[in-house]
Amino acid sequence: MEAKRRLVQLPMSAHFRWAVALVVCVAAGCEPAPLPEWGVREQLQSLADSDAQKKITAELSAAFGAPLSPNAPGADEPRREHLRQGAAVYAKRCAQCHGASGDGNGIAAAYLKPRPRDYRSGIFKFTSTPYGERPRREDLVRTVTQGIVGTSMPSFALLPAAELDAVVDYVVLLAQRGETELLLIAYAEAEEEMEFDDVVQEVRDAWYRSAEQVVRPLSVMPAMTSETVELGRQAFLSEGCSKCHGPDARGKTQDNVGTDVWGQPVNAADITSGMLHGGQRPIDIYRRISSGINGTPMPSFRAVFDPEGKDPATAKNPDTMWHMVHFVLHVANARRATLPPEPSRAAPAATETAPAAAADGDTETEGESP
Ligand code: HEC
Ligand code: HEC
Repeated sequence: MEAKRRLVQLPMSAHFRWAVALVVCVAAGCEPAPLPEWGVREQLQSLADSDAQKKITAELSAAFGAPLSPNAPGADEPRREHLRQGAAVYAKRCAQCHGASGDGNGIAAAYLKPRPRDYRSGIFKFTSTPYGERPRREDLVRTVTQGIVGTSMPSFALLPAAELDAVVDYVVLLAQRGETELLLIAYAEAEEEMEFDDVVQEVRDAWYRSAEQVVRPLSVMPAMTSETVELGRQAFLSEGCSKCHGPDARGKTQDNVGTDVWGQPVNAADITSGMLHGGQRPIDIYRRISSGINGTPMPSFRAVFDPEGKDPATAKNPDTMWHMVHFVLHVANARRATLPPEPSRAAPAATETAPAAAADGDTETEGESP
């Protein structure tokens, strides 16, 4: 019932995409398709040295197993059993979009925009970590639990906790396997000798490092008022946000702002759509602005407002980050409250929707509550 209601509220284009995905799903029998071998990347196929190619393929399968009998370097039997459980959940619920090897090329993928994530480079968009870092496990759990509103990525909130846990670890495994493969290819191309275990360690270190690096705000969130929204609007215009998102924050009216690392053209988000992909909490929006969105042209703004090492007389006010969060919340909520989209500075009612969002913000700037 709830799902049906949500579907009805989706805009037409999303509706259509869902319908196509559904038809594909039904045509394919909606059965968990038997997982083939993990695909071989183009870069590996085009590696000049065929001995190196064979060696990499053999090393990868020895260390990571196969899609339905996955392994992880150094894993004991309980861990392997856990990964097998993750693989089974993945085959049933994720592979039709994300592909057996996690390459984002499942059977329904061609019909979806944005495309399902290709995990194999280890790049994830909606993280609580600094720009360019791996996600924390909590970030992936949150994405899978909540889904990504405004895209075809569904919410798996009803999945039993053990299955959710297992499938998230399996996604991490697919990412680490893909990253290991990429590095091995790069070393082979550079004709550098590298021990397989050292390459795996290099990949894992990046994940361990990001686990410790949660992005904390530079200042405590001020209360959201029409004044902070206005300050945020001014910063939005003066800090370059409007160059991509447009002065009215409707982004989609602009041309594509570039290509993402997965090779797809991207638009700057239409912030007035109210569908914030990385979460609706003030801290989520703060982290989007602070860290940017990995793999896309959306840049990180932390350095602009971080006062550390700067002359206090000229350093920018770190609260400006929160002001922009308030502006984003304001325009994102305006349409939901059926107010005309920005700019509607004449509409005094617009600012009166602010306090509800502010109430959220106060409680959620700190703790993580995944
Ligand atoms: C109907 C298609 C579909 C299904 C089924 C699906 N996903 Fe996704 N998923 C997507 C799309 C599309 C995106 C990319 C959204 C974007 O780029 O904003 C995505 C993104 C993701 C991301 C990346 C988030 C980030 O921060 O970059 C993760 C992790 C993920 N999905 C996990 C899963 C898991 C686990 C399952 C199965 C339990 C699953 N997905 C099932 C479509 C799907
Ligand atoms: C170089 C272009 C560019 C600039 C400059 C830019 N953005 Fe973005 N922004 C993007 C793109 C592209 C996306 C969509 C990324 C994706 O594919 O998910 C985006 C997404 C967003 C989102 C949506 C996040 C979500 O959870 O869905 C917000 C909010 C946002 N930007 C705010 C800002 C703010 C505030 C600034 C200025 C401080 C800014 N952007 C500057 C390109 C830009």
